[in-house]
Amino acid sequence: MCGIVGYIGPKDCSDVLVSALTKLEYRGYDSAGIAVFENDAIKTVKTQGKLKDLEDKLKSVGKPQGHVGIGHTRWATHGEPSDINSHPHSGARVTIVHNGIIENYIELKEFLISKGREFLSETDTEVVAQLLDYKYNGNPLETIDSVMAELKGSFALGIMFKDFPDRVFAVRRESPLIVGVAEGECFIASDVPAILKYTKNYYLLEHDEIATLTKDGVNFVDEHLDPIEKELKTADWDMEAAEKSGYPHFMIKEINEQPDAIRTTIMPRIKEGLPCLEECGITLEKIKNFKNITIVACGTAMHAGMVGKYVIEDLARVPVNVDIASEFRYRNPIINEGDLVIIISQSGETADSLAAMRLAKQKGAKTLAIVNAKGSSIAREADMLIYTLAGPEIAVASTKAYITQLSVMYLFAFELALAKETLSEPECKRLVSALIKMPEAVSFVIKNCEEKCKYIATKLITSESLLYIGRGLDYALSMEGSLKLKEVSYIHSESYAAGELKHGTISLIDNEMPVISVATQTDIIPKTISNIVEVKSRGAKIILVCTDVCARGLKDGVADYVIEIPHTDELLMPITAVVPLQMLAYYTAINKGNDPDKPRNLAKSVTVE
Ligand code: M6R
Repeated sequence: MCGIVGYIGPKDCSDVLVSALTKLEYRGYDSAGIAVFENDAIKTVKTQGKLKDLEDKLKSVGKPQGHVGIGHTRWATHGEPSDINSHPHSGARVTIVHNGIIENYIELKEFLISKGREFLSETDTEVVAQLLDYKYNGNPLETIDSVMAELKGSFALGIMFKDFPDRVFAVRRESPLIVGVAEGECFIASDVPAILKYTKNYYLLEHDEIATLTKDGVNFVDEHLDPIEKELKTADWDMEAAEKSGYPHFMIKEINEQPDAIRTTIMPRIKEGLPCLEECGITLEKIKNFKNITIVACGTAMHAGMVGKYVIEDLARVPVNVDIASEFRYRNPIINEGDLVIIISQSGETADSLAAMRLAKQKGAKTLAIVNAKGSSIAREADMLIYTLAGPEIAVASTKAYITQLSVMYLFAFELALAKETLSEPECKRLVSALIKMPEAVSFVIKNCEEKCKYIATKLITSESLLYIGRGLDYALSMEGSLKLKEVSYIHSESYAAGELKHGTISLIDNEMPVISVATQTDIIPKTISNIVEVKSRGAKIILVCTDVCARGLKDGVADYVIEIPHTDELLMPITAVVPLQMLAYYTAINKGNDPDKPRNLAKSVTVE
């Protein structure tokens, strides 16, 4: 997704903007640009490509010299990646950067063309720039306000007016934007890591609020242009947390951070050996009457929901439906008053998940958000909220956020099962104490399986397609393994419930096809093993991820490679079993020369539909 930054203060503005943009690279982008006031004129430099290309261009055309400016990394939506479509975009007296999608840009563009305006780019953003210029009445706030009234869709905007060289304006609807403040300087950014080098203090801009930044500070007004006071927030993580700390990539750093991430997420929510979610607004009394649960999310977060379904249904005996947010929101889902809808999201800004949550609320459901990004839209709008305390996740491929989403799903399932009286306190205590041991088990897997995963990954790079198979919880986990591999290695893969193979998919098997099988659930291991034998006898190369207990009982030659993980409580096995799947994906990407942190065509946070 696009990234926005802005700066006003004593430092070299071009340098600050480029440096801040590097901290937003994780969002995915294909072009970059900055605009800076230089001697009261706005100088814009932009280019298709990476920030390195922008830096090269700044060297060749001359870096704008000044102290007030805005910058942008673009992830193309309207119009191909090109210099001309890159941001910033301008009208005669205004220059802007934009994240989001203006849904009614075609009609606005037609209107502006009818008024004699000409357009250089294919973007929806240039329409906003031209509309601001068209409506400009000498008063920036009034102009922004009246343009906002005409825009449909999502936007976060950084705006500079030629007549006001000492100011940057910012506004948002749906798309995230923060305003950072320090002594004598202010910032805008799409996300906190962009400003951490300079300050930890920031304000969260709410929908339709407008911020005016000067070197002396920031003022906010609401959509009626009435001044508002806002709460100053302080980031509780620092640059170190957002940097690679010696790892070659964020993805592997974040895989290694998983034991701590689980610990940080679960420990404050456990009291006297039992789950305690009171600080998240969840009590036994409050949840005991839920009869139906729907979990809505996208991508990896949805896969965490799949594990959640198995665990909640198993322990609390409440039916759980898992839905992809983009499907849920457009198909008139059956949600009744008194149902619980759980929304899982790392970023808390995923457009479809946010819309799905709002729909669930309209239908009278209670909503519970499981979110990583503090103060994000989903976090703020949910009725109940459990933060996954994974810290900033920078790599596009989600790893530590997923594992903390699982951890929260377990805690919630335990609490619900207590509320429903389907789980006794002693049994719950036993499960909680098994959960507390999981960080250690994950550390063990990272340490002991990494070399093997590295080696097996060298065997996968020539494959064109892979299958992941498993049953029950292992099937839910296979979905995540498959997504991880395809997003960073660009190798096609599918996950299948192992028992489904015979109903069609087995025809794909030949001796070119690796099959990754997850087998951690003792009672169904014999069934999965017989599926493995079936595909092996048709030539497939088998990579088996299984418990040490299962490995001991394996007949010779059943699998080509076995990745053993320690046997823990079986309900909790996805927490450890996902780790080799993440490492296989990571090392396959590395072996193929891909950048696993910024996979092609992908964005970290999908804030548009
Ligand atoms: O921020 P969210 O958790 O709502 O994002 C949902 C998906 O876009 C995300 O999990 C995506 O699938 C990841 N890149 C997968 O690694």
